Amino acid sequence: MADSAASASASPYFANVPQAPADGILKLSVLSKADSDANKVDLGVGAYRDDSGKPWVLPVIRTAEQRVASDPNGNHEYLGVGGLPALTNGAQKLIFGADSPAISEKRVYTIQTISGTGANMVAAVFLRQFKQPADAAVYISKPTWGNHRSILQTAGHEVREYRYCNYGTLGLDIDGMLEDLRAAPRNQIILLHACAHNPTGIDPTEAQWQQIADVMAERGHFPFFDCAYQGFATGDVDKDAYAIRLFVARGFELLVAESFAKNMGLYGERTGCLHAVTKDAALVGAVSSQLNRLSRATISTASAYGAKLAGTVLQDQGLYAEWVENMGEMSRRIKDMREGLRDRLQSLGTPGDWEHVARQIGMFSFTGLSKQQVDVLRDSYHLYMTDDGRISVAGLNSGNIDYVARAIDAVVRGGQ
Ligand SMILES: Cc1ncc(COP(=O)(O)O)c(C=O)c1O
Repeated sequence: MADSAASASASPYFANVPQAPADGILKLSVLSKADSDANKVDLGVGAYRDDSGKPWVLPVIRTAEQRVASDPNGNHEYLGVGGLPALTNGAQKLIFGADSPAISEKRVYTIQTISGTGANMVAAVFLRQFKQPADAAVYISKPTWGNHRSILQTAGHEVREYRYCNYGTLGLDIDGMLEDLRAAPRNQIILLHACAHNPTGIDPTEAQWQQIADVMAERGHFPFFDCAYQGFATGDVDKDAYAIRLFVARGFELLVAESFAKNMGLYGERTGCLHAVTKDAALVGAVSSQLNRLSRATISTASAYGAKLAGTVLQDQGLYAEWVENMGEMSRRIKDMREGLRDRLQSLGTPGDWEHVARQIGMFSFTGLSKQQVDVLRDSYHLYMTDDGRISVAGLNSGNIDYVARAIDAVVRGGQ
Protein backbone atom coordinates (compact mmCIF):
# COMPACT_ATOMS: atom_id res chain seq x y z
CA MET A 1 0.00 0.00 0.00
CA ALA A 2 2.74 2.43 1.04
CA ASP A 3 4.75 1.39 -2.03
CA SER A 4 1.95 2.07 -4.47
CA ALA A 5 1.23 5.46 -2.84
CA ALA A 6 4.90 6.40 -3.14
CA SER A 7 5.16 5.42 -6.80
CA ALA A 8 1.87 7.13 -7.66
CA SER A 9 3.08 10.44 -6.25
CA ALA A 10 6.55 10.33 -7.90
CA SER A 11 6.89 12.23 -11.19
CA PRO A 12 6.65 9.88 -14.18
CA TYR A 13 9.91 8.12 -14.99
CA PHE A 14 9.62 9.08 -18.64
CA ALA A 15 8.67 12.72 -17.98
CA ASN A 16 12.06 14.08 -19.05
CA VAL A 17 12.07 12.38 -22.45
CA PRO A 18 11.73 15.06 -25.13
CA GLN A 19 10.01 14.49 -28.46
CA ALA A 20 12.50 13.34 -31.12
CA PRO A 21 12.54 15.37 -34.35
CA ALA A 22 10.37 13.80 -37.04
CA ASP A 23 12.20 11.80 -39.72
CA GLY A 24 11.51 13.63 -43.00
CA ILE A 25 11.44 10.52 -45.19
CA LEU A 26 9.19 8.52 -42.89
CA LYS A 27 6.82 11.50 -42.57
CA LEU A 28 6.71 11.84 -46.35
CA SER A 29 5.89 8.18 -46.77
CA VAL A 30 2.93 8.47 -44.34
CA LEU A 31 1.59 11.49 -46.27
CA SER A 32 2.00 9.73 -49.59
CA LYS A 33 0.29 6.54 -48.40
CA ALA A 34 -2.68 8.56 -47.19
CA ASP A 35 -3.11 10.24 -50.60
CA SER A 36 -5.49 8.27 -52.80
CA ASP A 37 -5.46 10.63 -55.80
CA ALA A 38 -5.15 8.78 -59.11
CA ASN A 39 -2.31 11.06 -60.24
CA LYS A 40 -0.19 10.48 -57.14
CA VAL A 41 3.51 9.88 -57.79
CA ASP A 42 5.75 8.88 -54.91
CA LEU A 43 9.30 10.02 -55.64
CA GLY A 44 10.28 9.95 -51.98
CA VAL A 45 11.03 6.36 -51.14
CA GLY A 46 14.54 5.18 -52.02
CA ALA A 47 13.50 1.81 -53.37
CA TYR A 48 13.55 0.55 -56.95
CA ARG A 49 10.25 0.30 -58.80
CA ASP A 50 9.70 -1.33 -62.18
CA ASP A 51 8.09 0.41 -65.14
CA SER A 52 4.65 -0.33 -63.74
CA GLY A 53 5.56 1.32 -60.43
CA LYS A 54 5.80 -1.98 -58.52
CA PRO A 55 8.57 -3.31 -56.26
CA TRP A 56 10.79 -5.66 -58.25
CA VAL A 57 12.03 -8.97 -56.92
CA LEU A 58 15.18 -9.59 -58.96
CA PRO A 59 14.75 -12.76 -61.05
CA VAL A 60 18.08 -14.00 -59.71
CA ILE A 61 16.76 -13.62 -56.16
CA ARG A 62 13.69 -15.70 -57.11
CA THR A 63 16.07 -18.47 -58.17
CA ALA A 64 18.12 -18.12 -54.99
CA GLU A 65 14.90 -18.32 -52.93
CA GLN A 66 14.06 -21.64 -54.54
CA ARG A 67 17.55 -22.98 -53.93
CA VAL A 68 17.50 -21.96 -50.28
CA ALA A 69 13.98 -23.36 -49.78
CA SER A 70 14.87 -26.72 -51.31
CA ASP A 71 18.23 -27.14 -49.56
CA PRO A 72 17.83 -30.46 -47.66
CA ASN A 73 20.40 -29.25 -45.12
CA GLY A 74 18.67 -25.91 -44.61
CA ASN A 75 17.72 -24.89 -41.06
CA HIS A 76 17.01 -21.86 -38.95
CA GLU A 77 20.00 -22.07 -36.62
CA TYR A 78 21.81 -18.91 -35.50
CA LEU A 79 24.56 -17.69 -37.76
CA GLY A 80 28.02 -17.35 -36.22
CA VAL A 81 28.92 -13.97 -34.75
CA GLY A 82 30.78 -12.97 -37.93
CA GLY A 83 27.80 -13.85 -40.12
CA LEU A 84 27.41 -16.26 -43.04
CA PRO A 85 30.81 -16.96 -44.69
CA ALA A 86 29.20 -17.37 -48.14
CA LEU A 87 28.07 -13.76 -47.81
CA THR A 88 31.06 -12.20 -46.05
CA ASN A 89 33.66 -13.85 -48.32
CA GLY A 90 31.65 -13.01 -51.43
CA ALA A 91 31.11 -9.43 -50.26
CA GLN A 92 34.84 -8.95 -49.67
CA LYS A 93 35.65 -9.98 -53.23
CA LEU A 94 32.85 -7.86 -54.57
CA ILE A 95 34.06 -4.70 -52.86
CA PHE A 96 37.82 -5.06 -53.08
CA GLY A 97 38.09 -7.20 -56.24
CA ALA A 98 38.66 -10.97 -56.35
CA ASP A 99 42.39 -10.45 -56.88
CA SER A 100 42.79 -7.80 -54.19
CA PRO A 101 46.20 -8.02 -52.48
CA ALA A 102 44.54 -6.83 -49.25
CA ILE A 103 42.46 -10.04 -49.26
CA SER A 104 45.31 -12.37 -50.20
CA GLU A 105 47.54 -10.74 -47.58
CA LYS A 106 44.75 -11.37 -45.02
CA ARG A 107 44.44 -7.71 -44.11
CA VAL A 108 40.65 -7.62 -44.37
CA TYR A 109 38.01 -8.55 -41.83
CA THR A 110 34.36 -8.63 -42.78
CA ILE A 111 31.44 -8.93 -40.39
CA GLN A 112 27.82 -9.34 -41.44
CA THR A 113 25.55 -6.51 -40.29
CA ILE A 114 21.94 -5.41 -40.27
CA SER A 115 22.11 -3.99 -43.79
CA GLY A 116 23.95 -0.74 -44.53
CA THR A 117 22.49 1.10 -41.54
CA GLY A 118 23.75 -1.54 -39.13
CA ALA A 119 27.17 -1.48 -40.80
CA ASN A 120 27.29 2.30 -40.35
CA MET A 121 26.33 1.94 -36.70
CA VAL A 122 28.87 -0.80 -35.89
CA ALA A 123 31.55 1.32 -37.61
CA ALA A 124 30.45 4.44 -35.73
CA VAL A 125 30.58 2.72 -32.32
CA PHE A 126 33.90 1.05 -33.15
CA LEU A 127 35.43 4.38 -34.19
CA ARG A 128 34.04 6.11 -31.12
CA GLN A 129 35.92 3.63 -28.95
CA PHE A 130 39.16 3.38 -30.89
CA LYS A 131 39.61 6.52 -32.98
CA GLN A 132 42.95 8.26 -32.91
CA PRO A 133 43.09 10.91 -31.66
CA ALA A 134 40.21 10.25 -29.28
CA ASP A 135 38.71 13.68 -30.01
CA ALA A 136 38.72 13.27 -33.82
CA ALA A 137 35.49 14.46 -35.42
CA VAL A 138 33.67 12.70 -38.22
CA TYR A 139 33.26 14.84 -41.34
CA ILE A 140 30.20 14.24 -43.49
CA SER A 141 29.40 15.69 -46.90
CA LYS A 142 27.03 18.64 -47.14
CA PRO A 143 24.45 17.33 -47.81
CA THR A 144 24.42 13.63 -46.99
CA TRP A 145 22.05 10.73 -46.31
CA GLY A 146 19.83 11.96 -43.46
CA ASN A 147 20.71 9.07 -41.17
CA HIS A 148 24.49 9.65 -41.14
CA ARG A 149 24.41 12.49 -38.65
CA SER A 150 21.93 10.67 -36.45
CA ILE A 151 23.97 7.46 -36.40
CA LEU A 152 27.25 9.26 -35.69
CA GLN A 153 25.81 11.47 -32.97
CA THR A 154 24.03 8.53 -31.37
CA ALA A 155 27.42 6.81 -31.20
CA GLY A 156 28.83 9.92 -29.49
CA HIS A 157 30.87 11.56 -32.26
CA GLU A 158 31.26 15.24 -32.95
CA VAL A 159 30.01 15.67 -36.53
CA ARG A 160 31.29 18.34 -38.91
CA GLU A 161 30.62 18.94 -42.60
CA TYR A 162 32.75 19.32 -45.69
CA ARG A 163 31.42 21.11 -48.75
CA TYR A 164 30.21 18.73 -51.46
CA CYS A 165 27.35 20.01 -53.59
CA ASN A 166 27.70 23.19 -55.59
CA TYR A 167 24.12 24.38 -55.19
CA GLY A 168 24.49 26.69 -58.19
CA THR A 169 25.54 24.11 -60.77
CA LEU A 170 24.19 21.04 -58.92
CA GLY A 171 27.59 19.45 -59.57
CA LEU A 172 30.48 18.62 -57.25
CA ASP A 173 32.13 21.48 -55.38
CA ILE A 174 35.51 19.78 -55.64
CA ASP A 175 37.47 22.90 -54.70
CA GLY A 176 35.36 23.49 -51.60
CA MET A 177 35.61 19.83 -50.66
CA LEU A 178 39.40 19.71 -50.99
CA GLU A 179 39.75 23.00 -49.16
CA ASP A 180 37.66 21.72 -46.23
CA LEU A 181 39.56 18.42 -46.06
CA ARG A 182 42.82 20.38 -46.05
CA ALA A 183 41.63 22.88 -43.45
CA ALA A 184 40.43 20.17 -41.03
CA PRO A 185 42.82 19.25 -38.19
CA ARG A 186 45.04 16.28 -39.01
CA ASN A 187 43.77 12.70 -38.56
CA GLN A 188 40.03 13.26 -38.80
CA ILE A 189 37.52 10.65 -39.94
CA ILE A 190 36.02 11.39 -43.36
CA LEU A 191 32.77 9.70 -44.32
CA LEU A 192 32.68 9.23 -48.11
CA HIS A 193 29.92 7.81 -50.32
CA ALA A 194 31.61 5.17 -52.47
CA CYS A 195 29.22 5.79 -55.40
CA ALA A 196 25.78 7.17 -56.21
CA HIS A 197 25.89 9.86 -53.55
CA ASN A 198 22.64 10.16 -51.60
CA PRO A 199 20.87 12.60 -51.84
CA THR A 200 22.59 14.42 -54.72
CA GLY A 201 23.46 11.73 -57.28
CA ILE A 202 26.75 13.62 -57.73
CA ASP A 203 29.93 11.52 -57.71
CA PRO A 204 33.56 12.63 -58.04
CA THR A 205 35.27 11.61 -61.29
CA GLU A 206 38.18 9.18 -61.07
CA ALA A 207 40.62 12.10 -61.32
CA GLN A 208 38.78 13.90 -58.51
CA TRP A 209 38.92 10.77 -56.31
CA GLN A 210 42.67 10.81 -56.78
CA GLN A 211 42.81 14.41 -55.62
CA ILE A 212 40.67 13.52 -52.60
CA ALA A 213 42.99 10.61 -51.77
CA ASP A 214 46.02 12.92 -52.10
CA VAL A 215 44.64 15.42 -49.62
CA MET A 216 43.50 12.71 -47.22
CA ALA A 217 46.95 11.11 -47.27
CA GLU A 218 48.60 14.50 -46.76
CA ARG A 219 46.39 15.22 -43.75
CA GLY A 220 46.40 11.72 -42.27
CA HIS A 221 42.60 11.43 -42.48
CA PHE A 222 40.85 8.10 -42.02
CA PRO A 223 38.44 7.05 -44.82
CA PHE A 224 35.11 5.60 -43.76
CA PHE A 225 33.24 4.56 -46.92
CA ASP A 226 29.53 4.05 -47.13
CA CYS A 227 28.68 1.85 -50.12
CA ALA A 228 24.94 1.37 -50.52
CA TYR A 229 24.71 1.21 -54.32
CA GLN A 230 27.52 -0.93 -55.77
CA GLY A 231 26.47 -2.17 -59.20
CA PHE A 232 23.15 -0.39 -58.89
CA ALA A 233 24.78 2.93 -59.79
CA THR A 234 26.25 2.08 -63.20
CA GLY A 235 25.48 -1.62 -63.63
CA ASP A 236 29.24 -2.24 -63.27
CA VAL A 237 30.36 -3.45 -59.83
CA ASP A 238 34.02 -2.68 -60.52
CA LYS A 239 33.41 0.86 -61.67
CA ASP A 240 31.24 1.55 -58.63
CA ALA A 241 34.02 0.28 -56.33
CA TYR A 242 36.68 2.47 -57.97
CA ALA A 243 37.11 4.85 -55.04
CA ILE A 244 37.37 2.12 -52.40
CA ARG A 245 39.90 0.14 -54.43
CA LEU A 246 41.91 3.28 -55.12
CA PHE A 247 42.20 4.07 -51.41
CA VAL A 248 43.14 0.46 -50.60
CA ALA A 249 45.79 0.48 -53.34
CA ARG A 250 47.15 3.74 -51.96
CA GLY A 251 47.76 2.01 -48.62
CA PHE A 252 45.01 3.58 -46.49
CA GLU A 253 43.51 1.67 -43.60
CA LEU A 254 39.76 2.05 -43.83
CA LEU A 255 36.25 0.88 -43.05
CA VAL A 256 33.53 0.14 -45.62
CA ALA A 257 29.83 -0.16 -44.76
CA GLU A 258 28.10 -2.19 -47.47
CA SER A 259 24.42 -2.71 -48.17
CA PHE A 260 22.69 -5.31 -50.33
CA ALA A 261 19.33 -3.55 -50.02
CA LYS A 262 19.37 -1.83 -53.41
CA ASN A 263 21.66 -3.91 -55.59
CA MET A 264 19.93 -7.20 -54.69
CA GLY A 265 16.53 -5.70 -53.86
CA LEU A 266 16.77 -7.20 -50.37
CA TYR A 267 15.58 -4.06 -48.57
CA GLY A 268 13.58 -5.63 -45.76
CA GLU A 269 15.88 -8.62 -45.32
CA ARG A 270 18.52 -6.31 -43.81
CA THR A 271 21.58 -7.79 -45.48
CA GLY A 272 24.91 -6.00 -45.27
CA CYS A 273 28.53 -6.15 -44.18
CA LEU A 274 31.18 -4.03 -42.56
CA HIS A 275 34.73 -4.43 -43.87
CA ALA A 276 37.90 -3.31 -42.09
CA VAL A 277 41.16 -3.11 -44.03
CA THR A 278 44.30 -2.95 -41.89
CA LYS A 279 47.88 -2.15 -42.89
CA ASP A 280 49.16 -5.35 -41.41
CA ALA A 281 47.61 -8.83 -41.14
CA ALA A 282 48.75 -8.95 -37.51
CA LEU A 283 46.20 -6.24 -36.67
CA VAL A 284 43.20 -8.17 -37.94
CA GLY A 285 42.88 -10.36 -34.84
CA ALA A 286 42.28 -7.49 -32.43
CA VAL A 287 40.11 -5.50 -34.85
CA SER A 288 37.91 -8.49 -35.65
CA SER A 289 37.57 -9.37 -31.94
CA GLN A 290 36.28 -5.86 -31.18
CA LEU A 291 33.89 -5.79 -34.13
CA ASN A 292 32.56 -9.19 -33.08
CA ARG A 293 32.15 -8.01 -29.49
CA LEU A 294 30.26 -4.88 -30.56
CA SER A 295 28.00 -6.82 -32.86
CA ARG A 296 27.37 -9.48 -30.22
CA ALA A 297 26.38 -6.76 -27.73
CA THR A 298 23.83 -5.23 -30.09
CA ILE A 299 22.40 -7.92 -32.37
CA SER A 300 24.13 -11.08 -31.12
CA THR A 301 24.05 -12.58 -34.60
CA ALA A 302 22.94 -11.17 -37.94
CA SER A 303 19.81 -12.25 -39.82
CA ALA A 304 20.15 -15.40 -41.84
CA TYR A 305 17.62 -15.35 -44.68
CA GLY A 306 18.85 -12.44 -46.77
CA ALA A 307 22.43 -13.59 -46.17
CA LYS A 308 21.60 -17.02 -47.57
CA LEU A 309 20.04 -15.46 -50.68
CA ALA A 310 22.89 -13.00 -51.26
CA GLY A 311 25.51 -15.65 -50.41
CA THR A 312 23.93 -18.06 -52.92
CA VAL A 313 24.13 -15.42 -55.66
CA LEU A 314 27.68 -14.35 -54.82
CA GLN A 315 29.04 -17.90 -54.71
CA ASP A 316 27.53 -19.23 -57.94
CA GLN A 317 29.10 -18.09 -61.20
CA GLY A 318 25.91 -18.44 -63.22
CA LEU A 319 23.75 -16.62 -60.68
CA TYR A 320 26.38 -13.93 -60.28
CA ALA A 321 26.31 -13.26 -64.02
CA GLU A 322 22.51 -13.11 -63.94
CA TRP A 323 22.67 -10.71 -61.00
CA VAL A 324 24.94 -8.36 -62.95
CA GLU A 325 22.37 -8.42 -65.77
CA ASN A 326 19.55 -7.67 -63.32
CA MET A 327 21.50 -4.71 -61.95
CA GLY A 328 22.15 -3.53 -65.50
CA GLU A 329 18.40 -3.60 -66.13
CA MET A 330 17.72 -1.45 -63.05
CA SER A 331 20.47 1.06 -63.76
CA ARG A 332 19.47 1.30 -67.44
CA ARG A 333 15.84 1.97 -66.59
CA ILE A 334 16.86 4.67 -64.15
CA LYS A 335 19.17 6.24 -66.71
CA ASP A 336 16.36 6.19 -69.28
CA MET A 337 14.07 7.93 -66.80
CA ARG A 338 16.73 10.56 -66.06
CA GLU A 339 17.16 11.29 -69.76
CA GLY A 340 13.41 11.14 -70.31
CA LEU A 341 12.72 13.71 -67.62
CA ARG A 342 15.50 15.98 -68.87
CA ASP A 343 14.24 15.74 -72.45
CA ARG A 344 10.67 16.49 -71.48
CA LEU A 345 11.62 19.50 -69.34
CA GLN A 346 13.82 20.81 -72.11
CA SER A 347 11.17 20.39 -74.77
CA LEU A 348 8.57 22.08 -72.55
CA GLY A 349 11.04 24.95 -72.27
CA THR A 350 10.93 24.76 -68.48
CA PRO A 351 13.09 27.61 -67.15
CA GLY A 352 16.49 26.36 -65.95
CA ASP A 353 19.12 23.91 -67.12
CA TRP A 354 17.97 20.32 -66.57
CA GLU A 355 21.14 18.63 -67.78
CA HIS A 356 22.05 17.74 -64.17
CA VAL A 357 19.10 15.33 -63.94
CA ALA A 358 20.69 13.15 -66.63
CA ARG A 359 24.26 13.72 -65.44
CA GLN A 360 23.64 12.62 -61.84
CA ILE A 361 23.85 8.95 -60.97
CA GLY A 362 22.18 6.25 -58.87
CA MET A 363 18.76 6.21 -57.29
CA PHE A 364 18.39 9.92 -56.73
CA SER A 365 18.40 13.23 -58.49
CA PHE A 366 18.88 16.52 -56.72
CA THR A 367 16.55 18.56 -58.89
CA GLY A 368 17.26 22.02 -57.52
CA LEU A 369 13.54 22.55 -56.80
CA SER A 370 12.99 24.76 -53.75
CA LYS A 371 11.15 23.75 -50.59
CA GLN A 372 8.28 25.99 -51.63
CA GLN A 373 8.06 24.32 -55.05
CA VAL A 374 8.22 20.91 -53.37
CA ASP A 375 5.27 21.92 -51.17
CA VAL A 376 3.19 23.04 -54.17
CA LEU A 377 4.03 19.88 -56.11
CA ARG A 378 2.84 17.79 -53.17
CA ASP A 379 -0.28 19.80 -52.29
CA SER A 380 -1.50 20.62 -55.79
CA TYR A 381 -0.09 17.80 -57.94
CA HIS A 382 0.15 14.83 -55.52
CA LEU A 383 3.81 14.53 -56.32
CA TYR A 384 5.93 13.50 -53.33
CA MET A 385 9.64 14.27 -52.89
CA THR A 386 11.87 15.27 -49.98
CA ASP A 387 12.00 18.92 -48.90
CA ASP A 388 15.47 19.38 -50.41
CA GLY A 389 14.08 18.67 -53.90
CA ARG A 390 15.50 15.15 -54.10
CA ILE A 391 13.55 12.71 -56.26
CA SER A 392 13.91 8.97 -56.35
CA VAL A 393 14.27 8.50 -60.11
CA ALA A 394 13.17 4.88 -59.69
CA GLY A 395 9.68 6.21 -58.92
CA LEU A 396 9.36 7.51 -62.50
CA ASN A 397 7.94 5.27 -65.21
CA SER A 398 6.50 5.51 -68.69
CA GLY A 399 3.01 5.94 -67.19
CA ASN A 400 3.80 8.96 -65.00
CA ILE A 401 6.83 10.74 -66.47
CA ASP A 402 4.81 13.09 -68.71
CA TYR A 403 2.62 14.10 -65.78
CA VAL A 404 5.66 14.69 -63.56
CA ALA A 405 7.41 16.81 -66.20
CA ARG A 406 4.28 18.91 -66.78
CA ALA A 407 3.79 19.39 -63.02
CA ILE A 408 7.40 20.49 -62.53
CA ASP A 409 7.13 22.77 -65.55
CA ALA A 410 3.99 24.44 -64.18
CA VAL A 411 5.45 24.90 -60.71
CA VAL A 412 8.79 26.25 -61.94
CA ARG A 413 6.90 28.78 -64.05
CA GLY A 414 5.12 29.82 -60.86
CA GLY A 415 1.69 28.40 -61.67
CA GLN A 416 -0.08 25.86 -59.52
C1 LIG B 1 24.08 6.40 -48.37
C2 LIG B 1 23.31 5.32 -47.71
N1 LIG B 1 23.89 4.59 -46.75
C3 LIG B 1 23.25 3.59 -46.16
C4 LIG B 1 21.95 3.28 -46.48
C5 LIG B 1 21.38 2.15 -45.71
O1 LIG B 1 20.43 1.41 -46.25
P1 LIG B 1 20.02 -0.01 -45.63
O2 LIG B 1 20.17 0.07 -44.15
O3 LIG B 1 18.63 -0.19 -46.09
O4 LIG B 1 20.97 -0.98 -46.21
C6 LIG B 1 21.29 4.03 -47.46
C7 LIG B 1 19.89 3.78 -47.81
O5 LIG B 1 19.17 4.56 -48.32
C8 LIG B 1 21.99 5.06 -48.10
O6 LIG B 1 21.44 5.78 -49.08
